[in-house]
Amino acid sequence: MTRTPVNVTVTGAAGQIGYALLCRIASGHLLGPDVPVKLRLLEITPALGAAQGTAMELDDCAFPLLRGIDITDDPNVAFDGANVALLVGARPRTKGMERGDLLEANGGIFKPQGRAINDHAADDIKVLVVGNPANTNALIAQAAAPDVPAERFTAMTRLDHNRAISQLAAKTGAAVSDIKRLTIWGNHSATQYPDIFHAEIAGKNAAELIGDEAWLADAFIPTVAKRGAAIIEARGASSAASAANAAIDHVHTWVNGTADGDWTSMGIPSDGSYGVPEGLISSFPVTTKDGAYEIVQGLDINEFSRPRIDASVQELAEERDAVRALGLI
Ligand code: NAD
Ligand code: LMR
Repeated sequence: MTRTPVNVTVTGAAGQIGYALLCRIASGHLLGPDVPVKLRLLEITPALGAAQGTAMELDDCAFPLLRGIDITDDPNVAFDGANVALLVGARPRTKGMERGDLLEANGGIFKPQGRAINDHAADDIKVLVVGNPANTNALIAQAAAPDVPAERFTAMTRLDHNRAISQLAAKTGAAVSDIKRLTIWGNHSATQYPDIFHAEIAGKNAAELIGDEAWLADAFIPTVAKRGAAIIEARGASSAASAANAAIDHVHTWVNGTADGDWTSMGIPSDGSYGVPEGLISSFPVTTKDGAYEIVQGLDINEFSRPRIDASVQELAEERDAVRALGLI
């Protein structure tokens, strides 16, 4: 049977994450080894040549699943018929730029992209926002797309999730594959809260196994939350291969489901669960099945976790208020 190709739009396609992402999408890692894809690459006009160069390389890979590549600087064209959209391109913070300036500059990108998704994407569109500040950029895009179900707009905290699993594996000597039910709560920022109180390592509760709250507070949480900055310091550029890998993981899990007994972390519009104000795009523990996700309910939030979740959610509320004041949502 010949399957209809899935249209995957990638913005910021000529950037460093785009370069690490596109080959993996085209080789079947995003959606599955039997799912053909068509790529739409969106870039700003001066970067179209570089995107063309990446497309030439994709051609040269002769990927059996890749059924076409379009390159454009027009969001209305890029999102036309899109089934999956990876919003990677964003305005980075530059010297002297205030937080409000950054939010405003990104509003200029994510608001029109949200509108273009609203007007042109396929009915089953799934959106992942990677470009920072990812949660609030996702909120801006979602607010500009009133005809698309809000839950289709998600923000990436899977990199934080993967980083936390890797740190736990290194601490305990466990295999990465033995670590389950880890949660990232809140914002993809230094306020995020990686929670191991419900996590399991080879079937045992992770917090009990480690039994060291000082390590959690002083080593694990700051290492995970500040890992992005540490990579920038070490590499002279922000994470790219690991960010692309996390974007692949996020969409693959959303489309193909979480394993029995496990969950993942996704930035999603809150339904009010766990005291997170409705509508904020905040990271939660979620299970996925048949292309939909559900927040894991009924977890006990202890005294260690509660203020940490609240602090990150408070930051998200402040970002929302700032973009609201700027008329972006
Ligand atoms: P980059 O600067 O290498 O590439 C960004 C690309 O986006 C550039 O090619 C630029 O031309 C393009 N771009 C800018 N405005 C655009 C627009 N309006 N439409 C289409 N394309 C546009 O950056 P990168 O390293 O690829 O990172 C991209 C973003 O991802 C950054 O905001 C970064 O902070 C963020 N990031 C997020 C996570 C996460 O976990 N959520 C992790 C790593 C990086
Ligand atoms: C990361 O977590 O690696 C990035 O979000 C860091 C950044 O500021 O680009």
